[in-house]
Amino acid sequence: MTAATGLPDVYDPRRYATGLPHDAFRELRDHHPVARQEEYEVLGWPAGPGFWAVTRHADVVRVLKDSTAYSSHLGATQIRDPDAADLPFIRRMMLNQDPPDHGRLRRLVSRAFTPGRIERFEATARARARDLLRGARETGPTVDLVTAVTDDYALLNLTDVLGVPASDRGLLLRWTERVIAYQDPDEPPVLDERGRPVNPRSPAMLAEMFAYAQELAAYKRRRPGDDVMTSLAASPLADAELEMFFFLLTVAGNDTVRSAAPGSLLALAEHPGQRRRLAAGEVAVDSAVDELLRWHPPVLSFRRTAARDTELAGRPIAAGDKVVVFHASANYDERAFADPHRLDLGRTPNPHVSFGDGPHVCLGAHFARLQLRVLHEEVRQALPDFELAGPPRRLVSNFINGVKSLPVRLPPSGPRP
Ligand code: HEM
Repeated sequence: MTAATGLPDVYDPRRYATGLPHDAFRELRDHHPVARQEEYEVLGWPAGPGFWAVTRHADVVRVLKDSTAYSSHLGATQIRDPDAADLPFIRRMMLNQDPPDHGRLRRLVSRAFTPGRIERFEATARARARDLLRGARETGPTVDLVTAVTDDYALLNLTDVLGVPASDRGLLLRWTERVIAYQDPDEPPVLDERGRPVNPRSPAMLAEMFAYAQELAAYKRRRPGDDVMTSLAASPLADAELEMFFFLLTVAGNDTVRSAAPGSLLALAEHPGQRRRLAAGEVAVDSAVDELLRWHPPVLSFRRTAARDTELAGRPIAAGDKVVVFHASANYDERAFADPHRLDLGRTPNPHVSFGDGPHVCLGAHFARLQLRVLHEEVRQALPDFELAGPPRRLVSNFINGVKSLPVRLPPSGPRP
């Protein structure tokens, strides 16, 4: 609860370090589906004006689909307001645009993300999963699956699809961690000359990454490959747009899969009965992947700004108000899912909103699902018997549902023949 509103608090990034706050979400869904949240100073980050938390599935979908009422452009898409001086810069990113401008950029970049290109990548992802899992098995009997398998799996898959040379992969990891983990104590903020934390999405913090994007594009024009950066470098995107895309793809494509992969393994470790169904082939891996994404939504929330006075679930919303949708609550809404707190790997239909909805629905969903399907197919073979060896460590964040470590025990029996 926060003192000022008397309502459950789903803003505090520290809450998510112990798992999803299901009781708070449920109370909000049942009694305050559009609830005022205080945005107090936290972890050195300054206070903000507060926002509306939207927690029911139908309302989340409504907000995400209606970009004329709920804009991605006005205040961008993070809960915390960007510095006013940085806003024009941040708005250049497709994620932070509204139709029709958004559509032009989305069409251009969709052409680089063709299903054929992603499917050609399956064999590479599978070989990588096998190697990493073999390494984990050899490290055993206890191993952290995040450092041994899932972090590298997500990062290396992304860099391959983008066309980033292997030697530069460490750079990408550093840049994305700075942006995503900025609320986490393991990632101390960069301070300005007055000792205030610098927004990781500000131009100053991104200059190095942007210079790299231009260099890489120039390299791809000279030596084209079957990768996304080659397509972007050959497209009519302006230089500044290309830099922003590189940033968007780096961040959107890395930490989401880095969350989904260990999150889904954690769910399986906690539900041996469901895991047996998957191992026995009683449920399709595709439907299992979607249920695991519902269960462990990698993205907790996204922000919009009301473009005009409107109303949501009977609550008046004023133009300029911040409206934050909680995917993590919508995926457990009893109004949309039968028995939502039961993990059911065969669940159909499964209208989870982990990839969002409306014009900004995830552009990398196909790529993400492919990576997760391949990972689970390979885990089923290589680590059929892992057990939790201790509690996972989770990210301090109200944006990404991150898992920082997942210690498991591997019984000595070895992999199946
Ligand atoms: C399980 C993994 C993933 C999850 C859960 C996820 C989730 C999301 C969500 C919720 C949005 C909507 C943002 C909004 O409403 O403003 C989004 C957008 C986006 N995602 Fe993903 N994502 C994942 C993986 C990826 C991957 C692998 C890529 C690409 C390499 C990617 C690229 C994008 C892009 C470019 C957008 C912006 C789309 C637009 O603004 O039109 N995502 N993602």
